[in-house]
Amino acid sequence: MDGARGAGRALAALLLAASVLSAALLAPGGSPEHGAEAAPPRADLDKKRHVELKMDQALLLIHNELHGTNLTVYWNSERCYHCSFQVLVNVSWSGKPGKPSIAAVAVSTQHGSILQLNDTVEEKEVCRLEYKFGEFGNYSLLVKHVHNGVNEIACDVVVNKNPIDSNLPVCVAFLIGVAIIIAVSFLRFLLSLDDFHNWISKAINSRETDRLINSELGSPSRADSLGGDTQPGGWCPPASPPRLRCVDTFRGIALILMVFVNYGGGKYWYFKHSSWNGLTVADLVFPWFVFIMGSSIFLSMTSILQRGCSKLKLMGKIGWRSFLLICIGMFIVNPNYCLGPLSWDKVRIPGVLQRLGVTYFVVAVLELIFAKPVPESCASERSCFSLRDIIFSWPQWLFILMLESIWLGLTFFLPVPGCPTGYLGPGGIGDLGKYPNCTGGAAGYIDRLLLGDDHIYQHPSSAVLYHTEVAYDPEGILGTINSIVMAFLGVQAGKILLYYKDQTKDILIRFTAWCCFLGLISIALTKISENEGFIPINKNLWSISYVTTLSSFAFFILLILYPIVDVKGLWTGTPFFYPGMNSILVYVGHEVFENYFPFQWKLGDNQSHKEHLTQNIVASALWVLIAYILYKKKVFWKI
Ligand SMILES: *[C@@H]1O[C@H](CO)[C@@H](O)[C@H](O)[C@H]1NC(C)=O
Ligand SMILES: *[C@@H]1O[C@H](CO)[C@@H](O)[C@H](O)[C@H]1NC(C)=O
Ligand SMILES: *[C@@H]1O[C@H](CO)[C@@H](O)[C@H](O)[C@H]1NC(C)=O
Ligand SMILES: *[C@@H]1O[C@H](CO)[C@@H](O)[C@H](O)[C@H]1NC(C)=O
Ligand SMILES: *[C@@H]1O[C@H](CO)[C@@H](O)[C@H](O)[C@H]1NC(C)=O
Repeated sequence: MDGARGAGRALAALLLAASVLSAALLAPGGSPEHGAEAAPPRADLDKKRHVELKMDQALLLIHNELHGTNLTVYWNSERCYHCSFQVLVNVSWSGKPGKPSIAAVAVSTQHGSILQLNDTVEEKEVCRLEYKFGEFGNYSLLVKHVHNGVNEIACDVVVNKNPIDSNLPVCVAFLIGVAIIIAVSFLRFLLSLDDFHNWISKAINSRETDRLINSELGSPSRADSLGGDTQPGGWCPPASPPRLRCVDTFRGIALILMVFVNYGGGKYWYFKHSSWNGLTVADLVFPWFVFIMGSSIFLSMTSILQRGCSKLKLMGKIGWRSFLLICIGMFIVNPNYCLGPLSWDKVRIPGVLQRLGVTYFVVAVLELIFAKPVPESCASERSCFSLRDIIFSWPQWLFILMLESIWLGLTFFLPVPGCPTGYLGPGGIGDLGKYPNCTGGAAGYIDRLLLGDDHIYQHPSSAVLYHTEVAYDPEGILGTINSIVMAFLGVQAGKILLYYKDQTKDILIRFTAWCCFLGLISIALTKISENEGFIPINKNLWSISYVTTLSSFAFFILLILYPIVDVKGLWTGTPFFYPGMNSILVYVGHEVFENYFPFQWKLGDNQSHKEHLTQNIVASALWVLIAYILYKKKVFWKI
């Protein structure tokens, strides 16, 4: 035990040391000029040369050297799909030849910009250019006549001051991470030199004693969490649980990534949710969590039923847990400690845990109703079908296909007043501003109709780029159907792990097959394009292509983790294993204590990615550490 525990402690200490070290390394030398206060709105900056730059912005000075022409400059982001142009600034003619008039504006540097310069009066195009500005750069756009035979107008971008490299802190953090992994591996190698066999046998022994498999949400003891209060010798005798560490490790990875992106992800756009279509790191984590919940539902339920618990009692337990999840979720999504008491009229109803609760309920009940005993391993028998994991659960598959038809039917055929039927777009200025209030099409309409505008999420991720003004909830009612489908694909992964127990090759073949099959569906649905596919990948809608893509990735991750963690034991899943074992506690804890020190502190420069990144990494590492300590103390939050 000592070797494993020592390694664990050393690792935890290293993690903390690394956090502190990276905090020190990344901390600013001095406070740069660009302050924390909000910059004035872009439109009012005409003629004013002094612009407060915020994070992910560059300064653009537009020089109008055209004689007698007033310019209107329009702006659009390259990532904003089919968006109408927004007025950036008007640059009037200075009135004096030879003296250009200059307007200063802040432009976004997250994605490429499209600038369109029109003659204000005649509304005719002067020029149009695409440019990717860099963070905190200083650029000039020179608009002038060039006299090379024909009288043409040239628009040239000149760099006055080079931008900073925004991604440098991410690279540094990544390198520190790699260095820690190498250091820990080396440390463990040193530890193992003396009494290698001794240590290994102890490590394996400690793995036996850990109660590794857990309930659906990551609590370690299935007997306590689902089977009711077990008395020794009662009618749910504890059985030795199947040891599937990869499931907990995967859950932990998804959870810690979720903590990191929820805390801000260094305010990088790729650690935030997509504006509308597309996939960022932040969009990965929730579906993975749902997927792994599905796998755990199957693993724990099978074991509980094998122990002869009554289905009715289990049903009651499932209902109660779902209810608790929904209640905790309602509590978490309605914080009011800073904003004053929340009115009952503004209570948000949907949310992450609410959706998990509903998904859990549907999938667990579905599996309970049609539960069949898992056939004994039949590697040598010819009588076993190679598709028994699928064929044995045809009623579940039928139900899931029915649900998916409902999603497709409602999404594409439900008439929404004032909007085109089957609309999947973000509304706002998207689709050239034709359907500003149609955000999310049928999904948004159903939520607004059934729950009301005030009871859903008010700041959808599309608000920034697409300027949507209506409320839209990414955890809405219609999307829940697809999260049930996602969880069911996770159940399928659980079935593969259990039906083909001890047949590593069979398991890996099936993971590969599912990964490819779901990947091909995604390719067909999206035409490998962000916006042009039949059904684009979309986190806000939880579109079916989002589910197939993310479950394809999930099967891929299991394909990697299962042999490494469970078969060969090359990696114990540390440190992700610990939060994976206590996921409800870490999830609720990170949400509730988000604004507490030391998960958040006052930054020297509020507009610096590196400070945000340091803070968010430290906070995520702290949750890993907390999970580790609680694991050692055998404290688990079970509901
Ligand atoms: C720019 O000029 C147009 C036309 O004169 C006017 O409608 C618009 O409000 C002006 N915009 C700004 C930002 O000054
Ligand atoms: C350009 O704008 C200025 C001030 O905004 C105005 O006085 C002038 O008449 C405009 N010139 C033309 C050619 O439209
Ligand atoms: C600019 O002028 C072009 C050509 O006249 C016109 O088609 C376009 O709509 C104008 N752009 C904006 C944003 O008004
Ligand atoms: C940007 O560059 C221009 C031209 O070199 C200079 O006049 C201006 O002061 C610079 N602005 C800032 C905020 O650095
Ligand atoms: C969209 O909603 C806003 C606010 O509810 C309203 O003012 C506007 O007229 C609506 N637009 C359309 C095109 O219906």
